[in-house]
Amino acid sequence: MAAEPIRVVVTGAAGQIAYSLLYMVAKGDVFGPNQPLILHLLDIPPMMGVLEGVVMELDDCALPLLVRVVPTADPAVAFKDVDAAFLVGAMPRKQGMERKDLLSANVKIFKVQGEALDKYAKKDVKVLVVGNPANTNALVCSHYAPSIPKANFTAMTRLDQNRAQAQIAGRLGVGITKVKNVIIWGNHSATQVPDARNASVEVDGATKTVPEAVADDEFLKQQFLETVQKRGAAVIAARKMSSAMSAAKAASDHMRDWFAGTRDGEYVSMGVISDGSYGAPKDIVFSFPVQIQNRQWKIVQGLSVDEFTRSKLDVTAKELLEEKEEAMAVCAAD
Ligand SMILES: NC(=O)c1ccc[n+]([C@@H]2O[C@H](COP(=O)([O-])OP(=O)(O)OC[C@H]3O[C@@H](n4cnc5c(N)ncnc54)[C@H](O)[C@@H]3O)[C@@H](O)[C@H]2O)c1
Repeated sequence: MAAEPIRVVVTGAAGQIAYSLLYMVAKGDVFGPNQPLILHLLDIPPMMGVLEGVVMELDDCALPLLVRVVPTADPAVAFKDVDAAFLVGAMPRKQGMERKDLLSANVKIFKVQGEALDKYAKKDVKVLVVGNPANTNALVCSHYAPSIPKANFTAMTRLDQNRAQAQIAGRLGVGITKVKNVIIWGNHSATQVPDARNASVEVDGATKTVPEAVADDEFLKQQFLETVQKRGAAVIAARKMSSAMSAAKAASDHMRDWFAGTRDGEYVSMGVISDGSYGAPKDIVFSFPVQIQNRQWKIVQGLSVDEFTRSKLDVTAKELLEEKEEAMAVCAAD
């Protein structure tokens, strides 16, 4: 018997990330090849014409899993009974713009969407925030959706993880699947902490730690870290637009792992509500290594954090505390 369709909302559905993401979701990359879907597409009223074109293209893709598409500018319709939410819609960062400039405009969007999720979505909805500042937007969204567990709100650092894995694979000349357990700690911003110290890699059939295989501590502390931290800005400088295809792929990876679980012995990075693990402040959305089973994530415990990484964790935590304070002030004044 065919499975019942699940309802999945994508916000910012007329935007560039959604243009790649919708195809990945609708063809089964995220919820599996046997899971039919009803796609809810939310954007703002001026974008309804563009959204109509996206709906036409989804129809024209002739995708067997796609039962129905619901385009709308009304959050009450968009969030009704949804099982999964990709919150992509926000103002993107333009060249030369700092993420902080975006904060006040964007957190208000996530307040409204938190309230709508609280009112209309299923109580076990899984929410992935992509729109920046993603960690703080996820925190705001959860704050305004008190009837939904805090664990159900996550922020995307998977693009940073994928970038970090690609850098290590490129450096060692191995395929991307040979590199495992690279961690992104903290904020999805330039203060994020890409950490390959606990990662492993298979080279010529033998598994080694990444520090052993790379055998260049300076590379891991400097070039690797900075390349990953600044990759988003490098893509903007080259493309004059922010990362879209790779962001959509990362959003798919994040939600797929949340629904299907992580593989034995492997972990992935997600921005989740902090319980104080690894000395991070509680009650901010902080990126940690997590393992997932039965759609529940758990922060991986007992990993080694050296002094170098520790000092960087404190910087990214401080930034998140500042963002939280600023965001809550903006929302309270709204
Ligand atoms: N977390 C990450 O790793 C990551 C990576 C890349 C981009 N991003 C962020 O993702 C967001 C989207 O990027 P994009 O390139 O698709 O931008 P885009 O400008 O192409 O699309 C954004 C869309 O969101 C819509 N939108 C704006 N306000 C909305 C609202 N209140 N409700 C619904 N839709 C709304 C816009 O109309 C637009 O269609 C940006 O904030 C960007 O900075 C995050």
